[in-house]
Amino acid sequence: MTSRLRIALPKGRLLEQSIELLSRAGIRISDEAVASRRLTVTDGEGKFEFIQLKPVDIPVYVESGAVDAGIVGSDILRELDSDVYEPLDLQIGKCRLSVAAPNGVELSYDKHLAIATKYPKTASRFFTSRHAHVQIVRLEGSVEIAPLLGLADAIVDLVETGRTLRDNGLRVVEDIAAVSAKLIVNRTAMKTKARRINALVSKLDGTIYAHS
Ligand code: PRP
Repeated sequence: MTSRLRIALPKGRLLEQSIELLSRAGIRISDEAVASRRLTVTDGEGKFEFIQLKPVDIPVYVESGAVDAGIVGSDILRELDSDVYEPLDLQIGKCRLSVAAPNGVELSYDKHLAIATKYPKTASRFFTSRHAHVQIVRLEGSVEIAPLLGLADAIVDLVETGRTLRDNGLRVVEDIAAVSAKLIVNRTAMKTKARRINALVSKLDGTIYAHS
């Protein structure tokens, strides 16, 4: 018997959209399995094993081959520089990675700036490309509060609806990149499990195309 394909799903904001996309592609995970605290669940047909992981860990699991494939935001892929195959943009979880600063504050890249972010590498690279000298303050979440409390002059973070920025008196200064979720695949699995992975990619691709 062939083993099940192991696929990592991101816990948090992308989980529901990922499960909905899989379901539209005919790969169903029961509500009971989703609601349970089990970290490993199988689909209705038993062809796939899904592992729920913290998004930032997914490229690590996929690159090592501990799982065959995963769904993860391009923000995380950009930050980690993982060596994985990226066959498909899933057209979900669309948002922007932006520089934001307090309303009424003119942000000058000529001055030394402290930038709070969960994306230290991406932010560093961006400000270097702008010839700006910045000190990166690495945080794990609720980044929008940092300028208000004087921890940083500005932030680099995800903006989806813009509500978190608005509610905290911040505004977008500049966009760094458009973000969306990608299917990523382990490079060896792409060769050794090519038939099953290609079938998954075409199913998802067809579903995304039909929906656009
Ligand atoms: C993300 C992001 C922003 C917010 C943007 O945070 O880091 O804080 O969502 O969304 P909006 O533009 O629709 O308001 P998340 O909820 O993932 O939590 P975190 O701050 O702990 O990272």
